[in-house]
Amino acid sequence: MSVPALRAQNVYKVFGRRGREAVERLQQGAAREEINELGTAAVIDASFEVNAGETFVVMGLSGSGKSTLIRMLNGLLPLTAGSVVIGEEDIAQVSPARMRQIRSEKISMVFQHFALLPHRSVLDNAAYPLEIQGVARAERRERAAEALAMTGLKGWESSLPSQLSGGMRQRVGLARALAADTEILLMDEAFSALDPLIRREMQEQLNELQSSLGKTVVFITHDLNEAMFLGDRIAIMRDGRIVQTDTAERILSDPADDYVAQFIADVDRSRVITAGALMRRPRATVFLAGGPGLALREMSEAQVSAAYVVDRRRVLLGSVHDDDLLAAQRRGAQTLEGVVRADTTAVSTDTPLSEMFAPAAESLLPLAVTDTEGRLVGVVPRVTLLEAMVPPESADSTTGVPQQDTAPAAGTGDGTGGEVTDAESVGSVATTRVARDTARENRPGTAGTDPQNATEGEAR
Ligand SMILES: Nc1ncnc2c1ncn2[C@@H]1O[C@H](COP(=O)(O)OP(=O)(O)O)[C@@H](O)[C@H]1O
Ligand SMILES: [Mg+2]
Repeated sequence: MSVPALRAQNVYKVFGRRGREAVERLQQGAAREEINELGTAAVIDASFEVNAGETFVVMGLSGSGKSTLIRMLNGLLPLTAGSVVIGEEDIAQVSPARMRQIRSEKISMVFQHFALLPHRSVLDNAAYPLEIQGVARAERRERAAEALAMTGLKGWESSLPSQLSGGMRQRVGLARALAADTEILLMDEAFSALDPLIRREMQEQLNELQSSLGKTVVFITHDLNEAMFLGDRIAIMRDGRIVQTDTAERILSDPADDYVAQFIADVDRSRVITAGALMRRPRATVFLAGGPGLALREMSEAQVSAAYVVDRRRVLLGSVHDDDLLAAQRRGAQTLEGVVRADTTAVSTDTPLSEMFAPAAESLLPLAVTDTEGRLVGVVPRVTLLEAMVPPESADSTTGVPQQDTAPAAGTGDGTGGEVTDAESVGSVATTRVARDTARENRPGTAGTDPQNATEGEAR
């Protein structure tokens, strides 16, 4: 494994003069409320690693400690205990001068309300961090113009901030961070103040940018749907602690505790869970090279009445059914010629659950999952699809996720992508994440995920 881009280890932040004492009490097992007289424990024992090129989302309700955590990652707030390592440097150990250098060269930050310099043009605003870095005028203007183009602001370079909408101003903030061309981007509720539709656009744009730029992004949000839409992995915070760090799919299928289970109850699962996460090894696969007798024997052993047929490279060719095979055998046929039904619909590992029901309904066989080369990598039985729609049992359904205005809202996905109900529910989760993953796979020099274990076909 390569060195993570960023590593937080047992990080604590207690506001108040007796912070160290409070940390000791917490380390001895004291609850957050018990150390109130010593200070406010905003972050408690947080540990995680962010890999280069990863979008790592920190999600939690208002007051859970997200901003405090992210401000410790770039040295804006000193840690009460623990360490934050950027690349190979422990930022608590570096000089203030070096810290400023790290901040300007390695880490950019985008906030919720981005402060632009009102009397400077959009271009000069985007070029600002480069100016601070001492980059020559021509070069910084060129880099800023490129970054503005990336965020969809081409043509607005000479406008003033007051001439832009809120969404466009936020884009300038993103462009500024991109122009600085730092390896790490920290984004604290960067899209939270935007109208739902604009916000959705920004999310899509970030995913798209990520597929080509591959920055290391730490993205903070209180919106679970946004978290699932953007995050390669998500850390869920509650009362200063990280309670689970996982992929969206794993959080949905295996929530760490009742709190998380409650939190995710409203997520549109059908858009987050993909075929790759649900597929399993088929019970039987028929090789084209064998004859009807061999196919029947294999199917009989697996107790299935139909199976998928693959060639030597395991490319999916179609399916065979027991009655056709029996007839062929009676005719004395030696090959599967004329017996293979080629009407199979397969999905890819990236296909979201919402798009699996229709093809699953068309076939007697469990849904086939193929890779980019058409090879059969697994199957999804229909019953698995149905099970996946249901959230895992919560042991204690009374565990309250605080119902405040910042609670994550459910996606209202109808699949058309235009659904939006209010400022906090930018529904629709998985579609562009899938698009981004596909883009990533096609990007030269980047290995796509290629789950290949299951290779046979199975009837239910
Ligand atoms: N400068 C500060 N002094 C004292 N308490 C603070 C300070 N900043 C944040 N807090 C407290 O720390 C907790 C976490 O706040 P914050 O990190 O802003 O949460 P979030 O970003 O998740 O909304 C809250 O209880 C907040 O009141
Ligand atoms: Mg905050």
